[in-house]
Amino acid sequence: MFVMAVRNQSAAFELIMKWQDERHGTSLLSVEVMELNLLSLASVVRFARAWNSRSKPLQVLINNAGIFSMGEPQKFSKDGYETHQQVNFLAPALLSILLLPSVVKGSPSRIINVNSIIHYMGFVNTDDMNFTLGKEKFNSTKAYSSSKLAQVMFNSVLQKRLPPEAGISVLCVSPGTVHTNVTRDLPKLVQVACNFIPLFLFSAQEGSRSALYAATAPEIPEYCKALKADEWPTCAYISHDCRPTRAANEAHNTRAANEVWEKTMDMIGLPLDAVEKLLQGEEVMCKYKDS
Ligand SMILES: NC(=O)c1ccc[n+]([C@@H]2O[C@H](COP(=O)([O-])OP(=O)(O)OC[C@H]3O[C@@H](n4cnc5c(N)ncnc54)[C@H](OP(=O)(O)O)[C@@H]3O)[C@@H](O)[C@H]2O)c1
Repeated sequence: MFVMAVRNQSAAFELIMKWQDERHGTSLLSVEVMELNLLSLASVVRFARAWNSRSKPLQVLINNAGIFSMGEPQKFSKDGYETHQQVNFLAPALLSILLLPSVVKGSPSRIINVNSIIHYMGFVNTDDMNFTLGKEKFNSTKAYSSSKLAQVMFNSVLQKRLPPEAGISVLCVSPGTVHTNVTRDLPKLVQVACNFIPLFLFSAQEGSRSALYAATAPEIPEYCKALKADEWPTCAYISHDCRPTRAANEAHNTRAANEVWEKTMDMIGLPLDAVEKLLQGEEVMCKYKDS
């Protein structure tokens, strides 16, 4: 059974009906839709609580949703965070940790984060994740690349904190350059121009290859285990053509990655030992309560 966690449930139902029609009634799709708005950390807590209360195993979590508001002015969520940081990084980080009780039940299980090669351009300033202190002047490319690099750094620490016996593989994947709705915030004229270049871009199906490979390939758990045993500083990173690849140099800086971890745990309202507590079956309180 698959669950689509989305902010627009009716659009998801329409999509599922379209997929069902395309199967010409061969078999019924088993896809459930649940509400999740990554612009609200309370929504993340609510989703995780609802899922965990089923006491069912979660074998694969794919953090796919993301925004790249190209050319848009700086915006903040109700939680007070710059929106690229919140949607692309902070909310998926909170979700991954709060769902650990179910992910442990699904072991051997996988947490997959849809990242981007743009993380190679990124820089994370833990003193100014919101780009408000003026040291790093805001633009959407900086915010996007920073959120994607922070995601690699945070998940690298997460995979280290998970003991091998938990049987959880943590990965980041790059989808490549894909013809999707990611250009939705560009001026209309540029969007029209983008419609003429799909020949140079992957289709959405092609763009999903690395995430599907990470989710299903039988060699992935062994690969992640080997990286951990070798004390490789980052989590596994899979390229658009489904090959293990090296994440950005900055992600190999263990001290910087730990700083990102600590800052993030504070921003998402969790105690620093949340992972260890959840693995021991203890309750963990999040500041962003399910209201
Ligand atoms: N396209 C590329 O070339 C490319 C390259 C590298 C990495 N990526 C990454 O690939 C992933 C998918 O992006 P895409 O290209 O498929 O872009 P997309 O077509 O714009 O899809 C983004 C998805 O994220 C969802 N989303 C956005 N804000 C959300 C929120 N607040 N709560 C819940 N869901 C939210 C959107 O839901 P709605 O439908 O409700 O808006 C949509 O389903 C992202 O992480 C992106 O950074 C894409």
